[in-house]
Amino acid sequence: VSATSTTQALLAWYDKHHRELPWRVSPKAAAQGKRPEPYHIWLSEVMLQQTTVTAVKSYFTKFLDLWPRIEDLATAPTEDVMAAWAGLGYYARARNLKKCAEAVAAHHGGSFPDTEEGLRSLPGIGDYTSAAVAAIAFNRQAAVMDGNVERVISRLFAIDAPLPGSKPFMKQRVVELTPVDRPGDFAQAMMDLGATICTPKRPACALCPINDRCLALAEHDPERLPVKAAK
Ligand code: ADE
Repeated sequence: VSATSTTQALLAWYDKHHRELPWRVSPKAAAQGKRPEPYHIWLSEVMLQQTTVTAVKSYFTKFLDLWPRIEDLATAPTEDVMAAWAGLGYYARARNLKKCAEAVAAHHGGSFPDTEEGLRSLPGIGDYTSAAVAAIAFNRQAAVMDGNVERVISRLFAIDAPLPGSKPFMKQRVVELTPVDRPGDFAQAMMDLGATICTPKRPACALCPINDRCLALAEHDPERLPVKAAK
């Protein structure tokens, strides 16, 4: 598997088939140097953990109507934030959201740190969110790992070792595939591919831009991957 040609095929697919989402900047605009708002990317990524894109869209729009800037969220009454979050579930996320907004407003002048390490130091921001915001908002060379990405990678390389033990190996493969010039688009391409084509059940391999190099497809059974350790 050649990293550059796999990456190029994924990016070309993303240029054509990317999903239009309220927090996204199109790949065309990104190529002209436009970056999305870090506040928007952070908010959407926190909402998207454990919640589908379809469900998140209207909440994202509502939050931005109520609190257009992160300083507005930082000073909002916690009960208002909890009430606006109602229905999204996992309420610890809403409490962490508020804490993180307060920290960015109080200690960073209202601007998110622009590195993975800087983001990781904020309250409520873990490995996933720091990598996603660094890559998507700041175009940093961060390896963004979520369930979608793990599924794509485990199939592409026919990784039989079970999750979660195989995570470091998978992350290394993502690091190797991530292009220096478009890490943000690459991360979003992997997530869109996992969400729309390389699905858990009945993946649409005929439509996949990297089906000619997928080792699991060559073995005729991509659906069996990823393997998960017995609980
Ligand atoms: N799921 C979580 N984050 C996402 C993103 N940035 N794009 C597409 N799907 C996602």
